[in-house]
Amino acid sequence: MNNRREFIMGTMLAGAALPLAKGVAEVKPPTPANLLIYPMRPLKAETSRELTVAVMGAGGRGSVYQGYGKKFPGTMKVVAVADINEYRRNRMADAWGIPPNRRFGDYRELIQAGAGGKLADILVVTLPDSLHYDAAMRGIEQKYDVLVEKPMAQSSKECLDMLAKQRETGCIVGVCHVLRYAPYFEAMKSAIDRGLIGEIMSVQHTELVDFTHTSHSYVRGNWRNSKIATPMVISKCCHDLDLINWFIGARCTHACAEGEQRYFCAKNRPAGAPARCTDGCPHEKDCIYSAIKTYVKRRSWTGPLDLPPNATDEQVTKILAASPYSRCVFACDNDQPEQYAASLRFENGVAVAFSYEALSPVGQRRTRIIGTKGMLEGGGIGFRFTEIATGKFWDWNMKVQDVPGYERQGHGGGDLRLMRDFLLAVEKRDPSMLTSSLEASVESHLIGFACEESRLTGRKIKIHG
Ligand SMILES: NC(=O)c1ccc[n+]([C@@H]2O[C@H](COP(=O)([O-])OP(=O)(O)OC[C@H]3O[C@@H](n4cnc5c(N)ncnc54)[C@H](O)[C@@H]3O)[C@@H](O)[C@H]2O)c1
Repeated sequence: MNNRREFIMGTMLAGAALPLAKGVAEVKPPTPANLLIYPMRPLKAETSRELTVAVMGAGGRGSVYQGYGKKFPGTMKVVAVADINEYRRNRMADAWGIPPNRRFGDYRELIQAGAGGKLADILVVTLPDSLHYDAAMRGIEQKYDVLVEKPMAQSSKECLDMLAKQRETGCIVGVCHVLRYAPYFEAMKSAIDRGLIGEIMSVQHTELVDFTHTSHSYVRGNWRNSKIATPMVISKCCHDLDLINWFIGARCTHACAEGEQRYFCAKNRPAGAPARCTDGCPHEKDCIYSAIKTYVKRRSWTGPLDLPPNATDEQVTKILAASPYSRCVFACDNDQPEQYAASLRFENGVAVAFSYEALSPVGQRRTRIIGTKGMLEGGGIGFRFTEIATGKFWDWNMKVQDVPGYERQGHGGGDLRLMRDFLLAVEKRDPSMLTSSLEASVESHLIGFACEESRLTGRKIKIHG
């Protein structure tokens, strides 16, 4: 690594909330350029022992988190796994050499097996949304330290119950708000905490969801229906609400929201379109949501299809046709709004305009934060600070995927860094090493549920204060 790269990496990790990495001196004087400096800590958790992990849900996210132990042997190992899908259960269990009596179908079997003594130090809950609450609560009751995927639960009450249970037991519970750990967002938070923009006055934040991501997850897939999963403002955007809350550093008092399901519904179904793209749809060639284009021709988003290695187009088409992912996007049981606009008010007076847009040509998070001294604006990769007094600007710009160790890692490196900090928090018995604690993460969920209540009732909803 050359000096230039070290300097750029040095723009990443220093803020009041997070201590400077060992051996890194605070940079003085506090010029805008210096306040953007933030050094990276190593990705590997320096634990004194290998922590043991039981995984509930060996699908996409479960695979990501177990991957940390494969990338950094000696930090953690998976010793038990539960998944009702036999192929996924055995895929993970085989990779870790887990014996048959530690391979479970339903997650409750794993809990049952731990009744006389827990099976591992850590329980990772990467089940579908509707099971997080029950699985995490049972795990906390058994005194596991728990890493639970977002959303942590399906109502405000459940979130608060989980927090109460965690406080009662003293277990370390982290929520997978992985974006808090992405260098881009960490650097932004650090600059804010070190006073770069002065006092925050307002935040504007938009999540643009790529149209294929929307059709895959929020029209055809697991998060298509707010009653089966959670409302999209939570299932997709609790990350955004969490970032907003984290940047502002105060609690949200009120929420108002608007949004409607207008596009992916029966009235837009083209004449003669069959129930599935694979049933010879006459519009398939012109339709940008064609399942054949997405899954067979482009081989995108194929994870849930559990394709065999080197599957032929014919094999993929057959598997696709039998799955929910071949359904016409205008003939699904979805209910998520495609546009959402919310206004939020915080205890310290900060006003927030938040929105998501599900029919976007790109997937991106755009943030603008205005303070008394200046403005931060970013689009997910780099951000710019513009000083009010002079109009001068400074850029924080780093291609995280080019940094050794971060290649092809999810959420801008956030997935790995969350796992590192969670393992350290557990090993040191120090929850402050984890920024997405249960206590901190509850807030984004309370905001999301309040937004949804406001959208459905047309009322302004009080959260705190
Ligand atoms: N933090 C993030 O950025 C992020 C990103 C994507 C998904 N998620 C969340 O992670 C969770 C998992 O998502 P995913 O994409 O890995 O889904 P997935 O469908 O790939 O994995 C879930 C697994 O749970 C298994 N399962 C279902 N019911 C079960 C039961 N009763 N007992 C045992 N296993 C069971 C399924 O067979 C599946 O393998 C979701 O709640 C999702 O909202 C978070």
